[in-house]
Amino acid sequence: MHSSDFQDVFLDITDSTNRVARELGEQGAAHGIGVLAACQTAGRGRLGRRWYSPSGKNLYCSYIVRPNIDLHHFPKLTMTAGVAAAECLHDVYKIQVGLKWPNDLYIGSKKCGGILSEFTADRYGNTFAVIGIGINCNLESSDFSAEIKDIATSLLIAGAENLEVTELFQAIKSSLLSTIKDFESKGFSEVLKRWQAYDLFRGSNMVWLTPDGRRVEGENLGPDTDGMLRVKDTEGMIHLVLTGDVNLVNRE
Ligand code: BTN
Repeated sequence: MHSSDFQDVFLDITDSTNRVARELGEQGAAHGIGVLAACQTAGRGRLGRRWYSPSGKNLYCSYIVRPNIDLHHFPKLTMTAGVAAAECLHDVYKIQVGLKWPNDLYIGSKKCGGILSEFTADRYGNTFAVIGIGINCNLESSDFSAEIKDIATSLLIAGAENLEVTELFQAIKSSLLSTIKDFESKGFSEVLKRWQAYDLFRGSNMVWLTPDGRRVEGENLGPDTDGMLRVKDTEGMIHLVLTGDVNLVNRE
């Protein structure tokens, strides 16, 4: 199959759009091909978590991207996608969003979306990325369970009425592809500068729970030039966070 034979895929229901996009990518689907589902039965979040994916009200999508950058830069696509989504929500939908490292989308102090990026090689040996994006769009306050109602919100609650999920899927795709072009031509510093404009938690006191279960508390100094988060602990030592969970001290 030729890469131009693939088109965006629209599904009523699937387990995870990241799984579908990954399979299409493995078969050679081209840069920018997206998968949008109305509902996911096994939506996945970062760090092995589940992503709540009720039917018909939210954006659940994944894009295959094949950027013209060195392999070692691929992890930076996560923040690149965060900027693209934040700028799209701000510029197109006039929503005041912020970013929490590495790529959570926030409105005020509540999360409205997240990004899960995965990297793999296709059958021809070319590495590609799957950028999975979940955004709470048309959920009302009463749709959230007691467990998450204090920490989660939606674009509707933030004032975006009559939002069309398919339009948002297209708008984010064009923002993502143009931000990747900027990364390719101007380097990651350009993406980082724009990410910093949305950084909600720089200067805050945070706790980093390391993948091996340690707890590091300190000031969030924001991401470095490679996109790793810097946390300055109480003794002045700077830790570089590549993965794991970083939360406000009172949000542990
Ligand atoms: C996170 O904040 O933990 C990331 C959440 C990413 C969820 C999206 S929904 C569409 C795509 N398919 C998945 O299974 N996950 C991502």
